[in-house]
Amino acid sequence: MDRYAVLGYPIGHSKSPIIHQQFAKQTKQALSYEAIEVKPEVFSATLEDFFHAGGKGVNCTVPLKELAFEKVAQLTERAQFSGAVNTIKLMDDGTLLGDNTDGVGLLTDLCVNLGLSLEGKRLLVLGAGGAARGILGPLLGAKPSALFLANRTASKAEAMEALFASVGHITPTSYEALSDHQFDLIINATSASLNDALPAINAGLLAANGVCYDLAYSEQPTAFVRWGLDEGARLSVDGRGMLVEQAAHAFKLWRGVMPDTAQVLESLK
Ligand code: ATR
Repeated sequence: MDRYAVLGYPIGHSKSPIIHQQFAKQTKQALSYEAIEVKPEVFSATLEDFFHAGGKGVNCTVPLKELAFEKVAQLTERAQFSGAVNTIKLMDDGTLLGDNTDGVGLLTDLCVNLGLSLEGKRLLVLGAGGAARGILGPLLGAKPSALFLANRTASKAEAMEALFASVGHITPTSYEALSDHQFDLIINATSASLNDALPAINAGLLAANGVCYDLAYSEQPTAFVRWGLDEGARLSVDGRGMLVEQAAHAFKLWRGVMPDTAQVLESLK
């Protein structure tokens, strides 16, 4: 049976095994998919062992995506822009291909599952770390009228503006400077949710009918999802839809078949 895994640290909470096992069943693919806890210092050796033992592909999650980017022989264009790899595939010639399906996963959740159109809309992304970098390219590709990027550390938001200049325009900003603006969609890409904390966002940033989206997900509504609801968001959701959609694109890369995500999403609710 072809073997796949998600590597991360910690990994105990991962829903990826359940998602991929459901995809396999649904598409009648014979494969196994497990979660393996891997500390960054042993990532390289663990990855080599996994593929030497016959493994076909892995997903990498926090904090291994940047290490995975360094480790693979070839990168897809979207992985190159992301500076991070969440999906590795063993190619026929024995080399490793790195992809990043996070951005397309988010866009699919926003535009297909939630039925949003981003064209001509004003977007705000909070945070300018690895998670933000993975989604900025696809968000710019959706042709918003503005994409603001707020971060505590100004230099990181400015670096993203420069990095994506060939794709589209990003306006780097501080949290304080946002008070005169309103947005149709606010995406939380900070790691604050992991501590049930909120970035320093003021009230009144959300336009009428606005939507809030937290890339993080948890059993209880995250602090940012709760903020969105308090601000009167039409929709304020966490990132479980993105999780399922990024998994589907990884599955497609490995197996050549796109699974149906609707039933899997339903089963995670
Ligand atoms: P990830 O891969 O999850 O993006 P990261 O690259 O370490 O992790 O980036 C974390 C992001 O969350 C950064 O943008 C960080 O802001 P700084 O660059 O100013 O450090 C942001 N972040 C984390 N905790 C935050 C908090 N409590 N308030 C605001 N921003 C926060």
